[in-house]
Amino acid sequence: MISKKLEKAINAQINRELYSSYLYLAMANAAESMVLKGSAAWFKIQASEENGHAMKFYAYLHEQGAKVELEAIAKPPADFSSMQAMFDQTLKHERQVTKFIRELMVLADSEKDYASLGLIQWFVNEQVEEEANVVEILAQLKMIGGSTGGLYMLDRQLGKRAAG
Ligand code: FEO
Repeated sequence: MISKKLEKAINAQINRELYSSYLYLAMANAAESMVLKGSAAWFKIQASEENGHAMKFYAYLHEQGAKVELEAIAKPPADFSSMQAMFDQTLKHERQVTKFIRELMVLADSEKDYASLGLIQWFVNEQVEEEANVVEILAQLKMIGGSTGGLYMLDRQLGKRAAG
């Protein structure tokens, strides 16, 4: 059993994870249009991982006999100007998600809900990894500067990301 308060908070997080998936699909879509095929592949895998995050919370609520409520998913932006812009926005978005995961942790901790804490701890670790990946890509973009050759190489490298 989990509290109604935590059930509501996890449902809100399911919606955020689904929005994250939609946002990264929008970035994949923009990358395809810019002929950044590697980046498009990277964002498609990211979108799929976010869907997996939503499903992890979904499965947990069902395991706990709680109710899953699926809300509308907001329309993601479509006006991405460059690879830099997309990864800048990805980091900003992930930092926001980290903040929400931390809030879930605080709530579960205040309720001494150890089962939920165990699940949320997985997400805490996942956020560390996600932010680190994007910080690394942004550092590589900074090194490349305005070099189109460098951008081409980085895009190829991003295309090698394995599905997680
Ligand atoms: Fe599900 Fe990228 O956080």
